[in-house]
Amino acid sequence: MFFEEGLQAAAYIVAAILFILSLGGLKDQETAKRSIWYGIVGMALAVVATVFGPGVQNLFVLLIAIAIGAGLGIYIAGQVQMTEMPQLVAALHSFVGLAAVFIGINAELMLGSVLAMKEAGTSLTEVDLTGFGETLWNKTAAEITILRVESFIGIFIGAVTFTGSIVAFGKLSGKIDGKPSQLPGGHMLNAAAAVLCIVLGILYFGGAGIWTVLLMALVAGFIGYHLINGIGGADMPVVVSMLNSYSGWAAAAIGFTLSNDLLIVTGALVGSSGAILSYIMCKGMNRSFISVILGGWGGQTQSSGQEIEGEQTPIKADEVADLLEEADSVVIAPGYGMAVAQAQQAISELTTKLKEKGKTVRFAIHPVAGRMPGHMNVLLAEAKVPYDLVLELEEINEDFPETDVVIVIGANDIVNPAANDDPGSPIAGMPVLHVWEARHVIVSKRGQGTGYSGIENPLFFKDNTRMYYGDAKESVNALLQKL
Ligand code: TAP
Repeated sequence: MFFEEGLQAAAYIVAAILFILSLGGLKDQETAKRSIWYGIVGMALAVVATVFGPGVQNLFVLLIAIAIGAGLGIYIAGQVQMTEMPQLVAALHSFVGLAAVFIGINAELMLGSVLAMKEAGTSLTEVDLTGFGETLWNKTAAEITILRVESFIGIFIGAVTFTGSIVAFGKLSGKIDGKPSQLPGGHMLNAAAAVLCIVLGILYFGGAGIWTVLLMALVAGFIGYHLINGIGGADMPVVVSMLNSYSGWAAAAIGFTLSNDLLIVTGALVGSSGAILSYIMCKGMNRSFISVILGGWGGQTQSSGQEIEGEQTPIKADEVADLLEEADSVVIAPGYGMAVAQAQQAISELTTKLKEKGKTVRFAIHPVAGRMPGHMNVLLAEAKVPYDLVLELEEINEDFPETDVVIVIGANDIVNPAANDDPGSPIAGMPVLHVWEARHVIVSKRGQGTGYSGIENPLFFKDNTRMYYGDAKESVNALLQKL
């Protein structure tokens, strides 16, 4: 044991500070890379201080488990495409949930045997108890009740997170049908299951056996499955962020059970940041959190009440090039299609070329463009687009009337004027990029496909809009040839 108790506590404090710095730094692209390193160093320190700290029963087994886990993690992360990130995150949350369930049940079982030993009149010197067992032995009756409540809650949240994350993973990866589906009884069934969990808790604290906890874990697992299965596949990114929050609270509850301060701090950080992220996403989509949880428009195709008149007018690469040659200011508004087409590199080259020609080029980023928070920022950073050209919706929305050409790359809902003008639209009230106010709008998309919300977009029919059909990457490459 290299880390005595005091040194371990100090290492945990340093790790907690590094985690906070890491989260804080992620808000800005310039500091994001450094903050990832804070996170890595903090986590490495936390793992080392735990593995080589007091209370470890079998170091050898622990190191083998860590080696297998790390190997699998490196392999899986290497295989995953950027567009598959949300499902990877969902899969990882399911592990956090399952770990919380296992640790909570284990704590209950250990507590049961420690109490039985005490009842049999055994003294601490007769039994070989170290680490957590010894902590349990020394707890007072009141502390034991608190511990039981903490682990009961931890198991409940963990089980909901576990099954819910598996369903979210299945829906995001297309392995499970993305349509919302519920058993007869719908949300009433979830409410009844939640009441059953409370009843089982009352029975458990009243002295009933461990079976009540195991049954509660199964019922909570059902709630996770049924709740998330009732939400459309397209709403899964918000759900994943919400499950991220749950997994944090499960970890924090388990941290209380194990009296592990770092787990409490880390769990609270994950829990609150996940909750804030879910809130930001819902705000960006103008949806209430409750409406997402109760299954909103995800998955289904809906139509807006508004009839759109006119036609979509196509444009060819050389005509787009002519418009750009004449323009002074150009704004690029990327969306989900840019990620699908992997067009970011070509767009970065287009930016360089236009800037060389003396044009002002900027990017307009909508908070929920793509399918995960910061999706566009990550892709543009990957393609080395300078950060100072990348502006948020509220920073650029007023500049569109003074913009000569806007190029919309694979975006749809985030540039849909119906959000402003059609109160009957499913996206009514959602903040959108006012690209239609620019002199010319070029929309690069493959055809007449709708966006995430499944509704038609009046922008494509406006007089100043031209449709530049084709895969975004191929279209931008063709344009580069002409410029
Ligand atoms: P969408 O509304 O999904 O529109 C994407 C468009 O890209 C489609 O209309 C599609 O039209 C086009 N496209 C697809 N593949 C393409 C390709 N290879 N080349 C060119 N175009 C292609 O995307 P958006 O405008 O980014 O809006 C995001 C939506 O997702 C919003 O409704 C938002 O609320 C929702 N959402 C976002 C998040 C986060 S956090 N970002 C989370 C949950 C939900 P074609 O088929 O005609 O090509």
